Amino acid sequence: MEFYVDTANIEEIKKASRMKFLDGVTTNPSIIAKEKQEFKSKIREIAEYIDGKIWCQVTGKTAEEMYDQAIEMNTWGRKMVIKLPMTFEGLAAASELVKKDVEVNMTLVYSLAHVVLAAKAGVAYISPYVGRADDHSLDGQRFIRESLTTIQNLKAETKVIGASIRGPQTVVDLANAGVDAITMSYSTFEKMFQSPLTDIGLNQFRSDWDTYLRTMES
Ligand code: G3P
Repeated sequence: MEFYVDTANIEEIKKASRMKFLDGVTTNPSIIAKEKQEFKSKIREIAEYIDGKIWCQVTGKTAEEMYDQAIEMNTWGRKMVIKLPMTFEGLAAASELVKKDVEVNMTLVYSLAHVVLAAKAGVAYISPYVGRADDHSLDGQRFIRESLTTIQNLKAETKVIGASIRGPQTVVDLANAGVDAITMSYSTFEKMFQSPLTDIGLNQFRSDWDTYLRTMES
């Protein structure tokens, strides 16, 4: 399973990139906007710390605008994934980009009709938003499982990346569902490490080790 952190914050990226299994960083316009830095320079800065993929979303409204932006963004880093919204215009642009071998992600995917269209277009990834689906009383995890089945039935190569993840247990559930990739906030990533039993156990080991060293010195 590919593993991404959904952030453009350099301090978070520096910390997350210490985990050498990280497959890269995903962003969206809201995440970029929070950083108050010129878009391209922000992506270039992220690329200094990330060996893996950097995901970057177009903001144009028409297919032509999105296509032109995507071609430009694709030059901003060594391994770019270009995110386009799952709309008629977005998929029209995506289907052209696929022909140019640009790695494309359809974002804001909320229905199996979306999944069929994106898979037919041959995009590399689709991102269903699990937490936001749940917020609207849809079952985000069930949707991921059904998306995986639909793609398998179509014999398509499109990967499913679980996005809008609210906590560590959802990461575990999606891993068990066989999702291809997952992206989470830095805070969820950090929470994945947390266990009071690990802390208690480590404190005990340290205390016993200190006692042992003192005993050996005396
Ligand atoms: O970047 C896409 C997705 O992960 C956004 O998540 O938490 O804003 O719903 P969230």
